[in-house]
Amino acid sequence: MPALVLLGAQWGDEGKGKATDLLGGSVDYVVRYQGGNNAGHTVVVGDQKYALHLLPSGILSPGCTPVIGNGVVVDPSVLLSELSGLNERGVDTSKLLISGNAHIITPYNVTVDKVTERFLGKRKIGTTGRGIGPTYADKINRVGIRVQDLYDESILTQKVEAALDVKNQILTKLYNRRAIAVNQVVEELLGYAEKIEPYVADTVLVLNEALEQDKVVLFEGGQGTLLDIDHGTYPFVTSSNPTAGGACTGAGVGPTKISRVIGILKAYTTRVGAGPFPTELFDEDGEALRRIGGERGVTTGRDRRCGWFDAVIARYATRVNGLTDFFLTKLDVLTGWEQIPVCVAYEIDGRRVEELPYSQTDFHHAKPVYEMLPGWSEDISKAKTFSDLPKNAQAYVKALEEMSGAPISAIGVGPGRDETIEINSFL
Ligand code: GDP
Ligand code: IMO
Ligand code: MG
Repeated sequence: MPALVLLGAQWGDEGKGKATDLLGGSVDYVVRYQGGNNAGHTVVVGDQKYALHLLPSGILSPGCTPVIGNGVVVDPSVLLSELSGLNERGVDTSKLLISGNAHIITPYNVTVDKVTERFLGKRKIGTTGRGIGPTYADKINRVGIRVQDLYDESILTQKVEAALDVKNQILTKLYNRRAIAVNQVVEELLGYAEKIEPYVADTVLVLNEALEQDKVVLFEGGQGTLLDIDHGTYPFVTSSNPTAGGACTGAGVGPTKISRVIGILKAYTTRVGAGPFPTELFDEDGEALRRIGGERGVTTGRDRRCGWFDAVIARYATRVNGLTDFFLTKLDVLTGWEQIPVCVAYEIDGRRVEELPYSQTDFHHAKPVYEMLPGWSEDISKAKTFSDLPKNAQAYVKALEEMSGAPISAIGVGPGRDETIEINSFL
């Protein structure tokens, strides 16, 4: 059993952290391949709750080596505080590996993220303000700072100089902000170097050697399919590729090594930040989903926008990721509704559309076409097998599976590790 990818099939916050943690005990490596500390993954182990942002959720499984791949953007101050927070709670983080090719979120990238959003005004993306977009922009513009640059002061200084030459012009002349001093940034970054050094490794080599030795490698996506820079609802997206192909480029592992791609799918839909969301609810049902589902951002504390399940999106996620399985989460949250609407298609300017339109304008005009499925009122949080679920809950899962195009191999009925119904084994 070689490599598996586990990723978000909607707009993020599907429960990837819990799903990764669940598999963490049986895999050798858990690898983040994109994004940074814009992610917020909640993992509940027994009575302990952990909020992870940058570190892979596998860090909570003692036998597993957590890896931050080359495709991730790393804020060193966040990295160190997340590590020490876990150490204080008794979690051993010594196995962590960080790619020397991963890019660094510098303090000026965080500043640029915030001022750009302010400048955009009502057209803003609603980013997490963590410097993600500007850091990826620097990477593509070839003026980024990489983890390995922390170990060559002269190169680091030259690169910070090159980046700030342009940025300071923009900050002072366009945004009316103070210029950022090169030596201050270099000094701050060098201050992290020694603390991070023990973790820095050639992660591409490590992972490929592990795969040759038949070790099990799990790639954990941040964000979700619809937040993908290429395949998401651009421009209301993040600046990386959470979709399955991102695991290959973001970790340096060839596509032939990946045998399974698991889409984490919430039994309803949520989104944080701006952008189109056809099944969004503005009524008491939306409020109820938010309240019962605890739909508040782990990273920014913003309320998540909530809506019914959207099968068009799920089908799209199956297609662009080549999903082999779904892990359906938060089915328990839907307990108590007499009828549950599920979006099966869109109506766009009077036409029925079955698949996600490629045109942004069409997607902004998409109205959900709902099918009503009968609900259930029994508590399902103790269900251990599919047959423990009430008949209507079983039918809901089966209907979603049929509409979404891949088998549902696990069902979440609560936030805890053991609150999961396993149907087909992932390993
Ligand atoms: P991620 O970003 O995809 O890892 O997801 P988040 O952690 O941001 O949000 C998912 C939330 O749902 C977390 O608070 C989880 O503890 C919780 N959760 C995950 N699976 C389930 C489930 O099956 N049922 C319930 N009730 N909560 C769940
Ligand atoms: P996890 O991994 C939900 C959203 C932001 C914003 C857009 C761009 O917990 O699922 P960015 O800071 O990335 O440039 O913001 O993407 N976003 C997320 N939404 N879950 C996340 O991560 C997200 N990471 C970014 O709200 O709309
Ligand atoms: Mg999250």
